[in-house]
Amino acid sequence: MRVLIPQEELERRITELAAEINRDYADSDRLVCVGVLKGSVFFMVDLLKQLTVPLAIDFFQTSSYGSGTVPGEVRIRKDLDLSIRDRDVLLIEDIVDTGYTLRTILALLRFRGARSVKLCALLDKAAAREVEVQIDYRGFEIDKLFVVGYGLDFDERYRNLPYIAVWEPDEPADVPSPS
Ligand code: IMP
Repeated sequence: MRVLIPQEELERRITELAAEINRDYADSDRLVCVGVLKGSVFFMVDLLKQLTVPLAIDFFQTSSYGSGTVPGEVRIRKDLDLSIRDRDVLLIEDIVDTGYTLRTILALLRFRGARSVKLCALLDKAAAREVEVQIDYRGFEIDKLFVVGYGLDFDERYRNLPYIAVWEPDEPADVPSPS
């Protein structure tokens, strides 16, 4: 597997994002950081350890790609435990791909009366976007590749890699089979 973003680069960028967030929320005592399970967990932990503003933590889990889902259809599998009415919500996501998941979650957070809603995404696969999503804090823009590591999986594997790698099938599809 090819390393796309090494660990040191992730750490450096996350420190920059944390500094920005600390600055922007310096006057807020109502911040709730909401992670989207499971992929955002590694990013969320490393980012939040560097936040100095008072905050609460909560999680959403949505259905992932797979059987029974069609593009644009997003199901909530685990809802928030906390009320976010009048809170400043910072949604933390691993990757924005088509944008359908985030669009649904952001609309739901606003509907529930959050005072403000912003999005922090580690990776932005901008070329794959099908619906517009505003990313307020973006780690890296990447090409339209399937990536794993640092929370991201392929079939629940590779989440624990400490870097982002490009997932490549074991057997390259373009190798001709012997006849
Ligand atoms: P979207 O709704 O298409 O933006 O998809 C967002 C979700 O799809 C992410 O939270 C990931 O769980 C998953 N996803 C999208 N691209 C990748 C990838 O390259 N690797 C692993 N998971 C991905």
